[in-house]
Amino acid sequence: MARPDATSRRRHAELVAAIDAADAAYYLADAPHLADAAYDALRRDLEQLEAAHPELITPESPTQRVGARGAREATILGEVQHERPMLSLSNAFSPEEVEAFAASAAKALGGREPSLVAELKIDGLAISLRYERGRLVQAATRGDGVTGEEVTANVRTITAIPAELSAPINCEVRGEVYMPKAAFAALNAAREEEGLDLYANPRNSAAGSLRQKDPAITASRRLAFFAYQLFEEPQPAQQSAALLRLRELGLPTEVHAEGGLSGTSAAAFLARWESERHTLDYETDGAVLKVDAVADQEKIGYVSRSPKWAIAYKFPPEQATTRLERIVVEVGRTGYLTPVAEMTPVLLAGSTIRRATLHNIDEIRRKDVRVGDWVILQKAGDVIPEVVRGIPERREAALVPFEMPAICPSCAGPVVRDEVRHRCPNRWCPAQLFEGLRHAVGRGALDLEGIGEKLLAQLVARGTVKRIGDLYRLRAEDLDGLDRMGSVATNAKRSGDANRIVNVLNEVQRRRERELWRVLVALGIRHVGEATAKDLAEELVRRVPPTGGADWGRHVAANLRAASVEELTAVPGIGPIVAASIVAFFADAETSGILDDLLEAPGFTLLPPTQRGSASGPLLGEVVVVTGSITGHTREAIHDAIRSAGGAVADSVTAKVTLLVAGEKAGSKLAAAERLGIPVIDAATLFARIGGASGG
Ligand code: IVH
Repeated sequence: MARPDATSRRRHAELVAAIDAADAAYYLADAPHLADAAYDALRRDLEQLEAAHPELITPESPTQRVGARGAREATILGEVQHERPMLSLSNAFSPEEVEAFAASAAKALGGREPSLVAELKIDGLAISLRYERGRLVQAATRGDGVTGEEVTANVRTITAIPAELSAPINCEVRGEVYMPKAAFAALNAAREEEGLDLYANPRNSAAGSLRQKDPAITASRRLAFFAYQLFEEPQPAQQSAALLRLRELGLPTEVHAEGGLSGTSAAAFLARWESERHTLDYETDGAVLKVDAVADQEKIGYVSRSPKWAIAYKFPPEQATTRLERIVVEVGRTGYLTPVAEMTPVLLAGSTIRRATLHNIDEIRRKDVRVGDWVILQKAGDVIPEVVRGIPERREAALVPFEMPAICPSCAGPVVRDEVRHRCPNRWCPAQLFEGLRHAVGRGALDLEGIGEKLLAQLVARGTVKRIGDLYRLRAEDLDGLDRMGSVATNAKRSGDANRIVNVLNEVQRRRERELWRVLVALGIRHVGEATAKDLAEELVRRVPPTGGADWGRHVAANLRAASVEELTAVPGIGPIVAASIVAFFADAETSGILDDLLEAPGFTLLPPTQRGSASGPLLGEVVVVTGSITGHTREAIHDAIRSAGGAVADSVTAKVTLLVAGEKAGSKLAAAERLGIPVIDAATLFARIGGASGG
C-alpha cells in the first residue's frame, strides 16, 4: 500500500475537522449547521480516503466512533470488565466517626499520624476513563464494581472530558460525572413543560443522562466532570500529586481539595464546607478524606470492598420546620391534578421556601401530613424542596386527613383516578386550556411575546381563545376593556406604546410566520419538546419538500396524520413512546384539529426549518429586515433567499440589524433604520448581492 502523500494527509485532517465540527454542533449545541446530505458526503469521502490509506485511521477518526449521526439509535450499552475493581468507601456520619478513622490509620502506621487530603464528594456517578497513547478509548460506569456499562459515545459528548490528554500516555482515570445545579433546574423546567416526570435530584439526572441510548440526549444535558483518581505507570507517590498530575493532563479536578491536613484540620475542613457547600454550583453530599502517601495507603490496607485509608463523610441534610397552611390542587396541561403544599415561608439552605409539591394522595398519606400540621422540609438532593413528613406529635387539635377533590377545581367536572394520580378528563377544562396555551405561546414554542399570562388567563376565561389558531384571530374588540388593556375608545387617543391593544395585535401579527418545529412544540403533544420537534420537522421537510405556498402546511399536516408508529420510529431521535404519542395525537380528531385550525387562521404561514446549509454565503453575519412590498416575490421567499445566502432574518429594526431591504411603500421601519444608521438597499441590490434571480 502506498504511503499517504502530504495532500492525502491534509485532506484527511480537513475531513476529520469538518465532521467533528458538524458532530459537535449536532450533539453538543443541538444546532446542526450542516445538511444531512452534505454531512453524509463528508463521511463518504473520509471512508474512501481511509480505505485507500489505512495508515491515516486514528482511534478518534469519526469512522471509528459509535454514536455518529444516523447511527445514534443503534448504540447499545455494552458491558465492560474493570481492569481493577471500582471500590466504594465506608461512610462516616459524625465527627466522632471521622476521628475514629484518623486514629485507626495512625495505629496502622505505628502511631504516626498520616497526612490527609480532603476532597469534596461530588454527588454524581462514578466513571472510569481509559486513555491509550493519550486518547480516550473507553468510558464505563461503575456498575457492580467489577463489571460496568460501556458509555463511551455518551461520554464523548461531555465537554469537560478531553478526548485527548496533554501527554500520549496510557492510563485510567476515575472521577465523577455530575450535573451542575443550574443545568438540573433547567432540565426539570423543560421536562415539566413537556409533561414528563421530574428528576428527583442532580445525581439521578446525571445517571439517567449518561445511560441514554442516544448520545444526542446526553449531549443536550450539559453534564460535567471532576477527576479524583489516576492509575498511571509510574504511579504518583501521593494522592495530592495525582490531583496535580490529572490537571496537568488536562482533566478537571475539584478546586477546593486541600492537602497536608491532620485529623484536626480535616475536621475543620468538614465543618466549613457543611455550611459553605450551598454556594457551589454543584451538589456535594459530603467530603472524602484520603491518606495522602500511597506507601501509607498500602500499609493501612483494605476491608472487603473498601479501602481503610479513605472515608466518606456525609453532610447531614439541612432541614427546616414550618406550618402547612393549605394544600392547593393544581391542574396541569395534561389534566393531572397535583396537590401542592403552601407553607409559612421558611429559610432553608439558602432560599425561602413557600411551596412544595406533594405529588399525589398516596404520598400525602405516607407522610401523614394534614393542613395545620407542623412539617419537616428538606431539599431533595439539596435543590428541590420536599416535605419529609408531618410532625403529628405537635398537632394541637384533631386535624382531618386531606382528600383529593372529586370534582375538578377548574371546570367542576368529575375527576378520575389513574393508578396513583387523579386526572380531569375534560380536555376543554379551562385550567388545561390555559396551561396548554401558555406552553404554546412560550419562548420555546410560538414565542408570542405580547400574549402575557394575565391576558391569556382572561382570554381563556372569557372563552375568546380555545385553540392556538384563535390567537391569530384576535380583534381589537376581543381585548376591549380587559385588565391592563384599556378600551378601544380611550386608546385611540393614545399613541405608540400607550396603546396596549394595538401593541398586542401587532405583536401577534409580527409572528404570523412560524417555523414548523415551533408549531410542533406548540401543539403540546406529550413527549414532544424542542429537540424531538426539530427532528420531526427535518423528516417532514424531506418527505414534503417546501413549496413556499400555503399548501405546504396542509401537505405537512396530511403527512403527519398518515404517519405510522413504524415510520416515526425510523426518524433519528424518535423512539416508540414518542412515536405512539404523536400517532395518538393525530388520530384524535379534536387534538388533530388544533393544527388544521391554526393553518386556517388568517395570514398564518408555516415556515420550513431555517436553511441549515447556510453557514456560509454572501450574507454571512448580516441580520436583515425586509420591509415594504417587492413585486413578484412573497415575503417568505425573500426571507428564505436571505437565509440560504447565510444571513439571518429579523422582524423588527433593532440595534442588532445590519441591513434593511426596502421595497415599495416602506414606512416606519425605513425611518427607524435611517435613524439608527443601518445601511438600506433596494431589492435589486439584494438580489445582485446574493447572486439570485431578480425577475418577478
Ligand atoms: S474515591 C477507593 N473521591 O463516592 C476510592 N470518590 O462511595 C474510591 N466520589 O463511588 C472513590 N467524589 O462515586 C472518591 N473525591 C472523591 C469522590 C468520590 C465522589 C464518589 C464515587 C464513589 C463514591 C464512594
